Amino acid sequence: MAKKYYITTPIYYPSANFHIGHCYTTIIADSIARYKRLTGYDVYFQTGTDEHGEKIEKKAKEAGITPKEYVDKIIENAKDLWASLGISYDYFIRTTDKNHEEAVQKIFKKLYEQNDIYKGEYKGLYCVPCESFWTESQAVNNICPDCGREVKEVSEEAYFFRLSKYQDKLIKFYDEHPDFILPLSRKNEMLNNFIKPGLEDLCVSRTSFKWGIPVDFDPNHVVYVWIDALSNYITSLGYPNTKSEKFQKYWPADLHLVGKEIVRFHTIIWPCMLMALNLELPKQVFGHGWLKIDGGKISKSLGNYKDPREYIKEYGVDAVRYYALREVPFGNDGNFSEEALISRTNADLANNLGNLVNRTISMSHKYFDGLVTNPKINTEIDEILINKALSLKDIVETKMNELKVNEAIDEIMDTLRFANKYIDETTPWSLAKDETKKNRLATILYNLLETIRICAVLLTPFIPTTSSKIFNELNTKKTDYDSISTFGTLEENIILNKPEILFNRIDK
Ligand code: MSP
Repeated sequence: MAKKYYITTPIYYPSANFHIGHCYTTIIADSIARYKRLTGYDVYFQTGTDEHGEKIEKKAKEAGITPKEYVDKIIENAKDLWASLGISYDYFIRTTDKNHEEAVQKIFKKLYEQNDIYKGEYKGLYCVPCESFWTESQAVNNICPDCGREVKEVSEEAYFFRLSKYQDKLIKFYDEHPDFILPLSRKNEMLNNFIKPGLEDLCVSRTSFKWGIPVDFDPNHVVYVWIDALSNYITSLGYPNTKSEKFQKYWPADLHLVGKEIVRFHTIIWPCMLMALNLELPKQVFGHGWLKIDGGKISKSLGNYKDPREYIKEYGVDAVRYYALREVPFGNDGNFSEEALISRTNADLANNLGNLVNRTISMSHKYFDGLVTNPKINTEIDEILINKALSLKDIVETKMNELKVNEAIDEIMDTLRFANKYIDETTPWSLAKDETKKNRLATILYNLLETIRICAVLLTPFIPTTSSKIFNELNTKKTDYDSISTFGTLEENIILNKPEILFNRIDK
């Protein structure tokens, strides 16, 4: 039976203004999901929308409609954006789904009945846009440490979750699972800034607004959005029915991929909730950095970005995916600019990959009418190319297992660069002039085509549209993962299709 892999993105706040930063998490998650599928895993890839909370209630009011009408309308924007990016999610959860709402009520009640949640009074500071509570020492000068906006003082009767009770257990869990939080710097940040100073019980209900999941045994209260939102990772699997097929098969999650500002929720609140529910903890939370523009936030109020669909229209979906995956070392912050997107596309996709594919297929047509044969007249340089192409599978696997996505891609690009160099060194055009060198020429072209095929298989998770164009040009059926373990799998005696330009050089 195939091994399972359960990967999630955060669930997004519904928005009419998604930007390239929002796409970042999802493109990376999609590539990891596709990579795991390629390598034989039974993958469950989940994304969705986080639809409750004061912020949505306010926006709906401004628009003169109910919150549900508001989210119903806007949700299509997320689905449309993910479709245009080729996001291959298996399940899209909405926190307004009935089964999710009922499951959250049951979770809340269970925690209350077992005394992990109790009733008290909340006095403190709250950031509406981030839906976060802060202490005075955290929100210096009444400013939210996450988003820099003003927090407001709130005081109300509320339920609390006994986070403090789980502090020692959480530290022990971190110790026993050194890879639970990646990169390591984020784990240290959690330990030093939040856990070691002492976890305080967490306010988990609100009475000052209505748009949330009501606490069923005390309907003046709605469940705190983060309790509601984090639960999505298990309610979609059928929780509280832990016997359900999906729950049995996929829980615990293998990877929660999240932006760095929400690592805190995923590595403190979420594990403590799961411990209280007596469930296994996820295997890993990876907190990636932010894409910035001119070193600062991508922000609607600054008007410093375009809808990502405009870039897709202009440069193609794979150029956008490639940029997001390759440009920034995964885990770090990075700067987004259209110029950098263009130069990445030109350098890696047009000049390196596109050029190699085009040159090779054009030469095969010119010298052999597109007929593929492999007379195996190999020399030293061919062996180098063959070994490079063959070792790529394991190298990429190691990098992907460490979630070093940009480095995995760079290894593939490096092999393609070497293949371009191999053309320059073996000079097929001069061999073509000599009838006695025909077999040598055919061998060189075969080695190139096979290298391209191997690279295209490994590029499938990252730039799937381009890989499938390459497979079409190669007219090959050998596109599965096993097929790249041996060099020489590309079918002989097939006729290649005509070359098509994969990426035009962009001149701006
Ligand atoms: N609804 C919460 C998550 C709940 S998960 C149980 C949320 N939503 S969000 O829409 O604000 O953010 C979704 C994801 O987009 C987060 O991982 C966030 O880090 C990511 N990004 C938003 N802007 C970003 C950049 N500029 N760059 C990279 N990722 C960014 O948080």
